[in-house]
Amino acid sequence: MKTYRVAVIPGDGIGCEVAPAAIKTLETAAERFGFRFEWVQFPWGSEHYFAHGRMMPEDALDRLRAFDAIFFGAVGDPRLQDNVTLNGLLLPIRRGFDQYACVRPAVLYPGVPSPLAGRKSGDIDVTVVRENTEGEYAQVGGLLYPGGPQEVAMQAAMFTRHGTERVIRFAFELTRRRSRKRLLTSVTKSNAQGFSMAFWDRVFREVSRDYPDIRTESLLVDAACMDLVLVASNLFGDILTDLSAAITGSLGLAPSANLNPSKTFPSMFEPVHGSAPDIAGRGIANPMATMLAGSMMLDFLGETAAAALLERAVIQVLTDRRQLTPDLGGTGTTATVTDEVVAQLRV
Ligand code: NAD
Ligand code: IPM
Ligand code: MN
Repeated sequence: MKTYRVAVIPGDGIGCEVAPAAIKTLETAAERFGFRFEWVQFPWGSEHYFAHGRMMPEDALDRLRAFDAIFFGAVGDPRLQDNVTLNGLLLPIRRGFDQYACVRPAVLYPGVPSPLAGRKSGDIDVTVVRENTEGEYAQVGGLLYPGGPQEVAMQAAMFTRHGTERVIRFAFELTRRRSRKRLLTSVTKSNAQGFSMAFWDRVFREVSRDYPDIRTESLLVDAACMDLVLVASNLFGDILTDLSAAITGSLGLAPSANLNPSKTFPSMFEPVHGSAPDIAGRGIANPMATMLAGSMMLDFLGETAAAALLERAVIQVLTDRRQLTPDLGGTGTTATVTDEVVAQLRV
Protein backbone atom coordinates (compact mmCIF):
# COMPACT_ATOMS: atom_id res chain seq x y z
CA MET A 1 0.00 0.00 0.00
CA LYS A 2 1.24 3.48 -0.83
CA THR A 3 2.72 4.90 2.38
CA TYR A 4 3.72 8.48 3.13
CA ARG A 5 6.30 9.05 5.84
CA VAL A 6 5.52 12.26 7.64
CA ALA A 7 7.53 13.89 10.43
CA VAL A 8 5.25 15.39 13.08
CA ILE A 9 6.43 18.33 15.18
CA PRO A 10 3.50 19.31 17.42
CA GLY A 11 5.63 21.97 19.18
CA ASP A 12 4.13 24.04 22.00
CA GLY A 13 0.77 25.05 23.45
CA ILE A 14 -2.23 24.30 21.26
CA GLY A 15 0.14 22.87 18.63
CA CYS A 16 0.05 19.71 20.77
CA GLU A 17 -3.76 19.74 20.67
CA VAL A 18 -4.51 20.58 17.04
CA ALA A 19 -1.82 18.41 15.41
CA PRO A 20 -3.16 15.07 16.79
CA ALA A 21 -6.72 16.20 15.99
CA ALA A 22 -5.81 16.87 12.37
CA ILE A 23 -3.91 13.58 12.13
CA LYS A 24 -7.12 11.70 13.06
CA THR A 25 -8.86 13.24 10.06
CA LEU A 26 -5.90 12.54 7.77
CA GLU A 27 -5.93 8.89 8.89
CA THR A 28 -9.64 8.65 8.08
CA ALA A 29 -9.16 10.21 4.65
CA ALA A 30 -6.26 7.83 3.93
CA GLU A 31 -8.36 4.79 4.92
CA ARG A 32 -11.05 5.84 2.48
CA PHE A 33 -8.63 6.26 -0.40
CA GLY A 34 -6.45 3.21 0.24
CA PHE A 35 -3.13 4.73 1.21
CA ARG A 36 -1.46 5.09 4.58
CA PHE A 37 0.66 7.38 6.67
CA GLU A 38 3.61 6.53 8.82
CA TRP A 39 3.84 9.32 11.40
CA VAL A 40 7.13 9.84 13.20
CA GLN A 41 6.83 12.13 16.23
CA PHE A 42 9.53 14.66 17.12
CA PRO A 43 8.93 16.15 20.57
CA TRP A 44 10.86 19.33 19.84
CA GLY A 45 9.98 22.74 21.21
CA SER A 46 10.17 24.68 24.46
CA GLU A 47 10.09 21.61 26.78
CA HIS A 48 12.99 20.22 24.76
CA TYR A 49 14.74 23.55 25.30
CA PHE A 50 14.28 23.36 29.08
CA ALA A 51 15.62 19.78 29.13
CA HIS A 52 18.47 20.11 26.61
CA GLY A 53 19.16 23.82 26.09
CA ARG A 54 18.07 23.68 22.44
CA MET A 55 14.71 23.74 20.70
CA MET A 56 15.74 20.79 18.53
CA PRO A 57 18.88 18.66 18.28
CA GLU A 58 21.80 19.89 16.24
CA ASP A 59 21.25 17.20 13.57
CA ALA A 60 17.50 17.89 13.37
CA LEU A 61 17.44 18.84 9.70
CA ASP A 62 19.38 15.70 8.78
CA ARG A 63 16.79 13.64 10.62
CA LEU A 64 13.92 15.35 8.82
CA ARG A 65 15.46 15.37 5.35
CA ALA A 66 14.21 12.00 4.12
CA PHE A 67 10.54 12.49 5.03
CA ASP A 68 7.83 13.02 2.43
CA ALA A 69 6.53 16.01 4.41
CA ILE A 70 6.63 17.70 7.79
CA PHE A 71 3.44 18.33 9.75
CA PHE A 72 3.91 21.17 12.20
CA GLY A 73 1.73 22.46 15.07
CA ALA A 74 2.94 25.73 16.54
CA VAL A 75 5.78 27.04 18.63
CA GLY A 76 6.09 29.69 21.33
CA ASP A 77 6.16 29.69 25.11
CA PRO A 78 5.51 32.66 27.39
CA ARG A 79 8.54 31.64 29.51
CA LEU A 80 10.98 32.03 26.60
CA GLN A 81 11.84 34.82 24.21
CA ASP A 82 10.05 34.31 20.90
CA ASN A 83 13.23 35.12 19.08
CA VAL A 84 14.89 32.11 20.76
CA THR A 85 12.05 29.66 20.20
CA LEU A 86 11.21 30.62 16.63
CA ASN A 87 14.80 30.94 15.46
CA GLY A 88 15.54 27.65 17.20
CA LEU A 89 12.87 25.54 15.48
CA LEU A 90 10.41 26.79 12.89
CA LEU A 91 12.44 29.37 10.97
CA PRO A 92 15.59 27.23 10.52
CA ILE A 93 13.42 24.47 9.01
CA ARG A 94 11.78 26.89 6.57
CA ARG A 95 15.15 28.35 5.56
CA GLY A 96 17.18 25.13 5.76
CA PHE A 97 14.77 23.22 3.52
CA ASP A 98 14.43 26.15 1.13
CA GLN A 99 10.64 26.27 1.61
CA TYR A 100 10.67 29.55 -0.22
CA ALA A 101 7.00 29.76 -1.14
CA CYS A 102 4.62 29.95 1.78
CA VAL A 103 1.08 29.52 0.47
CA ARG A 104 -1.77 30.75 2.69
CA PRO A 105 -5.29 30.68 1.31
CA ALA A 106 -8.06 32.54 3.14
CA VAL A 107 -11.59 31.58 2.19
CA LEU A 108 -14.88 32.74 3.70
CA TYR A 109 -16.62 29.39 4.21
CA PRO A 110 -20.37 28.84 4.51
CA GLY A 111 -21.69 29.11 8.04
CA VAL A 112 -18.94 31.43 9.17
CA PRO A 113 -19.83 35.05 9.83
CA SER A 114 -17.11 37.46 8.76
CA PRO A 115 -16.46 40.60 10.77
CA LEU A 116 -16.81 42.41 7.45
CA ALA A 117 -20.57 42.78 7.36
CA GLY A 118 -22.62 41.80 4.35
CA ARG A 119 -20.13 39.43 2.72
CA LYS A 120 -21.36 36.04 1.69
CA SER A 121 -19.41 32.84 1.39
CA GLY A 122 -17.09 32.98 -1.60
CA ASP A 123 -16.78 36.80 -1.57
CA ILE A 124 -13.44 36.46 0.11
CA ASP A 125 -10.96 34.21 -1.63
CA VAL A 126 -7.41 35.41 -1.20
CA THR A 127 -4.19 33.47 -1.44
CA VAL A 128 -1.08 35.08 -0.12
CA VAL A 129 2.27 33.85 -1.42
CA ARG A 130 4.80 34.91 1.12
CA GLU A 131 8.54 34.84 0.43
CA ASN A 132 9.67 32.53 3.19
CA THR A 133 13.46 32.31 3.26
CA GLU A 134 14.96 35.81 3.24
CA GLY A 135 13.78 39.44 3.24
CA GLU A 136 13.22 40.92 6.69
CA TYR A 137 13.69 37.50 8.35
CA ALA A 138 17.28 36.94 7.22
CA GLN A 139 19.28 36.61 10.41
CA VAL A 140 21.88 39.10 9.25
CA GLY A 141 22.98 41.82 11.60
CA GLY A 142 24.65 42.31 14.91
CA LEU A 143 25.13 44.32 18.05
CA LEU A 144 27.73 47.01 18.52
CA TYR A 145 28.74 47.79 22.13
CA PRO A 146 26.25 45.23 23.51
CA GLY A 147 24.87 46.11 26.92
CA GLY A 148 26.52 49.54 27.00
CA PRO A 149 24.88 52.95 26.82
CA GLN A 150 25.92 53.32 23.19
CA GLU A 151 24.55 49.93 22.18
CA VAL A 152 23.49 49.71 18.53
CA ALA A 153 21.38 46.91 17.04
CA MET A 154 21.42 46.36 13.33
CA GLN A 155 19.15 43.94 11.45
CA ALA A 156 19.46 43.83 7.69
CA ALA A 157 16.77 42.79 5.21
CA MET A 158 18.19 40.69 2.38
CA PHE A 159 16.56 40.58 -1.03
CA THR A 160 18.44 38.46 -3.55
CA ARG A 161 17.56 38.37 -7.23
CA HIS A 162 17.38 34.57 -7.07
CA GLY A 163 15.04 34.58 -4.06
CA THR A 164 12.85 37.45 -5.26
CA GLU A 165 12.47 36.27 -8.82
CA ARG A 166 11.63 32.65 -8.00
CA VAL A 167 8.86 33.44 -5.53
CA ILE A 168 7.32 36.00 -7.90
CA ARG A 169 7.44 33.43 -10.70
CA PHE A 170 5.86 30.85 -8.37
CA ALA A 171 3.03 33.31 -7.63
CA PHE A 172 2.38 33.92 -11.34
CA GLU A 173 2.16 30.17 -11.95
CA LEU A 174 -0.23 29.77 -9.01
CA THR A 175 -2.37 32.64 -10.32
CA ARG A 176 -2.67 30.84 -13.64
CA ARG A 177 -3.86 27.71 -11.86
CA ARG A 178 -6.14 29.07 -9.18
CA SER A 179 -7.23 32.69 -9.60
CA ARG A 180 -10.58 33.06 -11.33
CA LYS A 181 -9.82 36.74 -11.92
CA ARG A 182 -6.28 36.02 -13.12
CA LEU A 183 -5.10 38.84 -10.95
CA LEU A 184 -1.81 38.96 -9.10
CA THR A 185 -1.16 41.77 -6.67
CA SER A 186 2.33 42.54 -5.50
CA VAL A 187 2.53 44.16 -2.11
CA THR A 188 5.51 46.33 -1.35
CA LYS A 189 6.45 49.47 0.52
CA SER A 190 8.74 51.05 -2.05
CA ASN A 191 7.78 54.56 -1.03
CA ALA A 192 9.51 54.01 2.29
CA GLN A 193 12.03 51.31 1.44
CA GLY A 194 13.71 52.62 -1.66
CA PHE A 195 16.28 49.88 -2.16
CA SER A 196 14.77 46.49 -1.33
CA MET A 197 11.16 47.22 -2.21
CA ALA A 198 11.97 49.22 -5.34
CA PHE A 199 14.10 46.25 -6.39
CA TRP A 200 11.15 43.91 -5.73
CA ASP A 201 8.88 46.15 -7.86
CA ARG A 202 11.41 46.05 -10.68
CA VAL A 203 11.75 42.25 -10.58
CA PHE A 204 7.95 41.93 -10.44
CA ARG A 205 7.60 44.07 -13.59
CA GLU A 206 10.30 42.04 -15.37
CA VAL A 207 8.75 38.66 -14.52
CA SER A 208 5.25 39.90 -15.40
CA ARG A 209 6.33 40.24 -19.05
CA ASP A 210 6.45 36.42 -19.20
CA TYR A 211 2.78 36.26 -18.09
CA PRO A 212 0.82 38.53 -20.44
CA ASP A 213 -2.39 36.63 -19.60
CA ILE A 214 -2.29 37.73 -15.96
CA ARG A 215 -3.33 41.15 -14.76
CA THR A 216 -1.06 42.69 -12.20
CA GLU A 217 -1.43 45.35 -9.57
CA SER A 218 1.15 46.92 -7.39
CA LEU A 219 -0.86 47.31 -4.24
CA LEU A 220 -4.44 46.50 -3.49
CA VAL A 221 -6.10 46.19 -0.14
CA ASP A 222 -9.70 46.17 -1.10
CA ALA A 223 -11.94 44.23 1.20
CA ALA A 224 -14.90 44.47 -1.18
CA CYS A 225 -13.68 42.50 -4.16
CA MET A 226 -11.11 39.99 -3.06
CA ASP A 227 -10.44 37.11 -5.33
CA LEU A 228 -6.78 37.39 -5.95
CA VAL A 229 -3.41 35.88 -5.45
CA LEU A 230 -0.91 38.14 -3.80
CA VAL A 231 2.85 37.96 -3.55
CA ALA A 232 4.71 39.69 -0.73
CA SER A 233 7.94 39.71 1.18
CA ASN A 234 8.42 37.59 4.28
CA LEU A 235 7.31 40.18 6.86
CA PHE A 236 4.47 41.74 4.85
CA GLY A 237 3.22 38.24 4.02
CA ASP A 238 3.20 37.37 7.72
CA ILE A 239 1.13 40.39 8.66
CA LEU A 240 -1.29 40.15 5.74
CA THR A 241 -2.07 36.50 6.45
CA ASP A 242 -3.20 37.12 10.02
CA LEU A 243 -5.41 39.85 8.59
CA SER A 244 -6.80 37.70 5.79
CA ALA A 245 -7.43 34.92 8.32
CA ALA A 246 -9.31 37.23 10.66
CA ILE A 247 -11.64 38.51 7.94
CA THR A 248 -12.62 34.95 7.06
CA GLY A 249 -13.92 34.52 10.60
CA SER A 250 -11.08 33.10 12.70
CA LEU A 251 -7.36 32.55 12.83
CA GLY A 252 -8.41 29.01 13.74
CA LEU A 253 -9.37 28.43 10.09
CA ALA A 254 -6.21 29.52 8.28
CA PRO A 255 -3.78 26.89 6.93
CA SER A 256 -0.25 27.38 5.62
CA ALA A 257 2.01 25.39 3.30
CA ASN A 258 5.75 26.04 3.29
CA LEU A 259 6.69 24.67 -0.08
CA ASN A 260 9.98 23.60 -1.51
CA PRO A 261 8.57 23.42 -5.04
CA SER A 262 11.58 21.57 -6.48
CA LYS A 263 11.00 18.77 -3.93
CA THR A 264 14.70 18.66 -3.10
CA PHE A 265 13.67 18.89 0.56
CA PRO A 266 10.48 18.06 2.45
CA SER A 267 7.81 20.76 2.52
CA MET A 268 6.11 21.69 5.78
CA PHE A 269 2.42 22.13 6.56
CA GLU A 270 1.11 24.04 9.57
CA PRO A 271 -1.67 26.35 10.72
CA VAL A 272 -1.05 30.11 10.41
CA HIS A 273 -1.76 30.63 14.11
CA GLY A 274 0.64 30.25 17.00
CA SER A 275 0.67 28.30 20.25
CA ALA A 276 -2.13 30.43 21.79
CA PRO A 277 -0.99 30.29 25.43
CA ASP A 278 -4.22 32.08 26.44
CA ILE A 279 -6.31 28.99 25.61
CA ALA A 280 -3.69 26.20 25.68
CA GLY A 281 -4.57 23.16 27.81
CA ARG A 282 -8.30 23.83 27.81
CA GLY A 283 -9.18 21.61 24.86
CA ILE A 284 -10.98 24.36 22.97
CA ALA A 285 -8.50 25.19 20.22
CA ASN A 286 -10.02 25.09 16.76
CA PRO A 287 -8.30 22.20 14.92
CA MET A 288 -9.69 23.17 11.51
CA ALA A 289 -6.72 25.31 10.40
CA THR A 290 -4.45 22.32 10.99
CA MET A 291 -6.90 19.98 9.22
CA LEU A 292 -6.93 22.32 6.23
CA ALA A 293 -3.12 22.38 6.35
CA GLY A 294 -3.40 18.56 6.26
CA SER A 295 -5.58 18.89 3.17
CA MET A 296 -2.90 21.07 1.53
CA MET A 297 -0.35 18.37 2.41
CA LEU A 298 -2.51 15.69 0.75
CA ASP A 299 -2.74 17.88 -2.33
CA PHE A 300 1.03 18.36 -2.43
CA LEU A 301 1.56 14.60 -2.06
CA GLY A 302 -0.68 14.05 -5.07
CA GLU A 303 -3.68 12.72 -3.12
CA THR A 304 -5.98 15.33 -4.61
CA ALA A 305 -9.23 13.41 -4.06
CA ALA A 306 -8.46 12.87 -0.38
CA ALA A 307 -7.46 16.53 -0.07
CA ALA A 308 -10.77 17.67 -1.54
CA LEU A 309 -12.72 15.26 0.68
CA LEU A 310 -11.05 16.59 3.83
CA GLU A 311 -11.70 20.20 2.87
CA ARG A 312 -15.33 19.36 2.06
CA ALA A 313 -15.75 17.60 5.41
CA VAL A 314 -14.50 20.70 7.26
CA ILE A 315 -16.82 22.91 5.18
CA GLN A 316 -19.78 20.64 5.97
CA VAL A 317 -19.10 20.85 9.71
CA LEU A 318 -18.89 24.66 9.41
CA THR A 319 -22.16 24.72 7.48
CA ASP A 320 -24.00 22.48 9.96
CA ARG A 321 -22.82 24.59 12.91
CA ARG A 322 -23.53 21.69 15.31
CA GLN A 323 -20.01 21.42 16.68
CA LEU A 324 -17.86 24.53 16.57
CA THR A 325 -15.17 25.80 18.90
CA PRO A 326 -15.67 29.08 20.81
CA ASP A 327 -13.63 31.17 18.32
CA LEU A 328 -16.48 30.50 15.85
CA GLY A 329 -19.17 31.17 18.41
CA GLY A 330 -19.75 27.51 19.32
CA THR A 331 -19.56 25.55 22.56
CA GLY A 332 -17.71 22.56 21.11
CA THR A 333 -14.20 21.36 21.92
CA THR A 334 -11.20 20.29 19.85
CA ALA A 335 -12.31 16.68 20.42
CA THR A 336 -15.99 17.09 19.49
CA VAL A 337 -15.14 19.08 16.36
CA THR A 338 -12.62 16.41 15.37
CA ASP A 339 -15.20 13.63 15.87
CA GLU A 340 -17.64 15.59 13.73
CA VAL A 341 -15.11 16.00 10.89
CA VAL A 342 -14.16 12.31 11.14
CA ALA A 343 -17.86 11.33 10.96
CA GLN A 344 -18.31 13.58 7.95
CA LEU A 345 -15.32 11.92 6.24
CA ARG A 346 -17.05 8.56 6.63
CA VAL A 347 -20.38 9.68 5.11
P1 NAD B 1 -1.62 33.11 18.33
O1 NAD B 1 -1.89 32.83 16.89
O2 NAD B 1 -1.05 32.00 19.11
O3 NAD B 1 -2.98 33.58 19.03
C1 NAD B 1 -3.65 34.80 18.67
C2 NAD B 1 -5.10 34.74 19.19
O4 NAD B 1 -5.86 33.84 18.39
C3 NAD B 1 -5.21 34.23 20.62
O5 NAD B 1 -6.23 34.90 21.29
C4 NAD B 1 -5.57 32.75 20.45
O6 NAD B 1 -6.32 32.21 21.51
C5 NAD B 1 -6.39 32.78 19.16
N1 NAD B 1 -6.21 31.52 18.40
C6 NAD B 1 -5.10 31.16 17.69
N2 NAD B 1 -5.28 29.94 17.16
C7 NAD B 1 -6.48 29.50 17.54
C8 NAD B 1 -7.21 28.30 17.34
N3 NAD B 1 -6.73 27.28 16.60
N4 NAD B 1 -8.44 28.18 17.91
C9 NAD B 1 -8.94 29.19 18.65
N5 NAD B 1 -8.31 30.35 18.89
C10 NAD B 1 -7.09 30.50 18.35
O7 NAD B 1 -0.67 34.41 18.40
P2 NAD B 1 0.07 35.08 19.65
O8 NAD B 1 -0.81 35.01 20.86
O9 NAD B 1 0.54 36.39 19.18
O10 NAD B 1 1.35 34.19 19.89
C11 NAD B 1 1.45 33.15 20.86
C12 NAD B 1 2.79 32.43 20.69
O11 NAD B 1 2.80 31.73 19.44
C13 NAD B 1 3.99 33.39 20.64
O12 NAD B 1 5.04 32.77 21.30
C14 NAD B 1 4.26 33.55 19.16
O13 NAD B 1 5.58 33.90 18.86
C15 NAD B 1 3.93 32.16 18.66
N6 NAD B 1 3.55 32.06 17.24
C16 NAD B 1 3.94 30.93 16.60
C17 NAD B 1 3.53 30.70 15.30
C18 NAD B 1 3.95 29.44 14.62
O14 NAD B 1 4.41 28.50 15.27
N7 NAD B 1 3.81 29.32 13.31
C19 NAD B 1 2.69 31.61 14.66
C20 NAD B 1 2.28 32.76 15.35
C21 NAD B 1 2.71 32.97 16.66
C1 IPM C 1 3.78 32.67 11.16
C2 IPM C 1 4.41 33.19 12.45
C3 IPM C 1 5.94 33.22 12.37
C4 IPM C 1 6.37 34.11 11.22
C5 IPM C 1 6.60 33.77 13.64
C6 IPM C 1 6.14 33.03 14.84
C7 IPM C 1 8.10 33.80 13.51
O1 IPM C 1 3.90 34.44 12.81
O2 IPM C 1 4.12 31.57 10.71
O3 IPM C 1 2.92 33.36 10.62
O4 IPM C 1 6.34 35.35 11.31
O5 IPM C 1 6.77 33.55 10.21
MN1 MN D 1 2.21 35.06 11.58
